Amino acid sequence: MLTTFTEVTPNPYIMHNNFTPILLQWFLENGRDLPWRHTRDPYAIWLSEIILQQTRIQQGQAYWERFMQKFPTVEALAAATEDEVLRLWQGLGYYSRARNLHFAAQQIAKIGHFPTTYEETRKLKGVGDYTAAAIASIAFGLPHAAVDGNVYRVLSRHFGIDSPINSTEGKHLFAELAQQLLPKEEASAFNQAMMDFGAIQCTPQSPRCVLCPLQETCDALHTGRIDTLPVKLKKLEIKTRHLTYIYVRCKGETAIRRRPAGDILQGLWEPWNVEKTPKDLPLILLRKDVKHVLTHRILLADFYLLDIDKRPSIPEEYIWIPEAELENYALPRLIEILLESLPR
Ligand code: ADE
Ligand code: SF4
Repeated sequence: MLTTFTEVTPNPYIMHNNFTPILLQWFLENGRDLPWRHTRDPYAIWLSEIILQQTRIQQGQAYWERFMQKFPTVEALAAATEDEVLRLWQGLGYYSRARNLHFAAQQIAKIGHFPTTYEETRKLKGVGDYTAAAIASIAFGLPHAAVDGNVYRVLSRHFGIDSPINSTEGKHLFAELAQQLLPKEEASAFNQAMMDFGAIQCTPQSPRCVLCPLQETCDALHTGRIDTLPVKLKKLEIKTRHLTYIYVRCKGETAIRRRPAGDILQGLWEPWNVEKTPKDLPLILLRKDVKHVLTHRILLADFYLLDIDKRPSIPEEYIWIPEAELENYALPRLIEILLESLPR
């Protein structure tokens, strides 16, 4: 008989930790009283989550109330014109949210009822992982952790995790940790507690550590890393670098050098690389603005030919070799392109 079982790897971050009960107790005492927290109507909860995607609670609350008044049911919203929906949305910005909301209302009306699972909810237009988890937990009590910027901040600080929150590994790690911390029977309270804790207690700037019930176990507090957690990778700015090459052809020989350490294309060989194009030499332009993309740079190169009987004076690091021997040197792809553009 074949037996299969799934081994649950204990997460080192949550062993011997009372994070969840302390968070839930904090929520009982400090949770915000918000109108959509007095209903289990999935339509009302979905509406609140869409409005709150890019809007502050303060502003979002008034819009939620107006929408609930004008469109008390998903059928009413589905039956509205797009224009009516957009007019009620006016002032909230990101109007694709309103169009998606209207479209999704029609998706729901067509099904005949609001979806009742995470997977089905996730298929609604405008609903991503976070929003689907929020709706599934708050409206249906399903055990899905809703992970957003608040959750990254609270978990990275409390558990001292410096994996970048915008890296694939980081996202997986935080999602898994949140999912393991989530109590299956109290998913709704846990997710909303995380939202409120991140918004009120463990705020981006000046978190209230002195009054925090998690201070005893908070890694960032004890290691002085509150200002450096969470870690977010900066997008590397891809800079463009201009290069000018002169291929010297002098009695069957040419000049090359090895590129210095600590720069792009380190250790590879290149022809005469000039900062400024010399004006006193009979240069023939071979190609201009040849684009070559490296991982962190875009190169734009101009290629010249200097066909001459007397060696020009060039820096000492260049060596003279027979042109036929070039193939014995490691050349960057960009220089191969230069060679391909040479007249024979
Ligand atoms: N932000 C997003 N969803 C929220 C909710 N349900 N309560 C409070 N803040 C939120
Ligand atoms: Fe956040 Fe400070 Fe509390 Fe740690 S002690 S969880 S950093 S508020």
